[in-house]
Amino acid sequence: MATMLNKRVTGAFGKQAPTRARVAAVRPSRSAVRVSASAATEQSVDFKTMRDGIKVAAEESLLTPRFYTTDFDEMERLFSLELNKNLDMEEFDAMLAEFKLDYNQRHFVRNESFKAAAEKITGPTRKIFIEFLERSCTAEFSGFLLYKELGRRLKATNPCVAEIFTLMSRDEARHAGFLNKAMSDFNLALDLGFLTKNRKYTFFKPKFIFYATYLSEKIGYWRYISIYRHLQRNPDNQLYPLFEYFENWCQDENRHGDFFSAVLKSQPDMISDWAAKLWSRFFCLSVYITMYLNDHQRDAFYSSLGLNTTQFNQHVIIETNKSTERIFPAVPDVENPEFFRRMDLLIQYNSKIVEIGRMNVPDAVKALLRLPLLERMVAEVFQIFIMTPKDCGSYDLAENKAALVY
Ligand SMILES: [Fe+2]
Ligand SMILES: [Fe+2]
Repeated sequence: MATMLNKRVTGAFGKQAPTRARVAAVRPSRSAVRVSASAATEQSVDFKTMRDGIKVAAEESLLTPRFYTTDFDEMERLFSLELNKNLDMEEFDAMLAEFKLDYNQRHFVRNESFKAAAEKITGPTRKIFIEFLERSCTAEFSGFLLYKELGRRLKATNPCVAEIFTLMSRDEARHAGFLNKAMSDFNLALDLGFLTKNRKYTFFKPKFIFYATYLSEKIGYWRYISIYRHLQRNPDNQLYPLFEYFENWCQDENRHGDFFSAVLKSQPDMISDWAAKLWSRFFCLSVYITMYLNDHQRDAFYSSLGLNTTQFNQHVIIETNKSTERIFPAVPDVENPEFFRRMDLLIQYNSKIVEIGRMNVPDAVKALLRLPLLERMVAEVFQIFIMTPKDCGSYDLAENKAALVY
């Protein structure tokens, strides 16, 4: 599978710092761990726990990672070899062979430095670290649940594609487990079984699942590799050893993204007509805006790693958009200066909204104060949406569909 490492990834997002040595004693990892809450560092963190060492999941909002469900009957039709003649099974077979190789089988092995590093992270940084781990763990686990169910439901219709989904759920379970284990270093793991049963599931039609998962895999790849490259250049900002695993980890996400690219190619309607262009742009913008707002709201986390949040985010968005334009029929023109000028306005409005949330006034007053800002945000998002997009992809440009290169 192609690796899209780009020289610009090594570009500076932050400050330079000297090297730090690291311990390398190894012991195996498990998917979920419960540790009794005792460390003094924990006193600085005021999260609610369900029971000893198990954190109550953060409340869901527009910007928090979600769990997804879909129309599995339609999925079966889309992957049926009788009904869909566009399925390129040679390509899927090759992908399955690669997933079976399981390059990262031995990658996610923890060492003694994790717990010790976590103990050293204190005060507000500790809190934002835990939040970062929780968001990442929830997002990875969400992929696990969806892919696992798709693997199960497609077994009879298309065993090859079903097995790919199952193997991708294997990867995501590893990622989520590794993050949850990291949370236990901070004495606050998540009860993933409880979340599976109790969290709300958002329904998306299959085609929206494909756009959203393609983007989240590719943006995940660019986020992980960008953080990894930055910390490689600035080892003193490596506060916690988790990030050292991102180089191989992100290759899993890249492979997952490439699989969804193959899936989209097998569904020409989803990447060719005007509606596809509209939805492609809509999903790109939703994903980019959500990340931009979320990360700027947690600027302190990225600063603690020596990253400049704005530069890091813009780099990730530009690179994700470049990957995406190879398969989506239209993407936003993120390199038009107008794009990030408007995105930065959204950050300003959003931070004012967050400030209002912290004010010591009745909720009704807060709602009134927020209203004009929300209106401006909606107007700004609309302006971004109507900016001239980039027509791309290659499906509708080729005369001979067999000669397509994506
Ligand atoms: Fe993942
Ligand atoms: Fe993934």
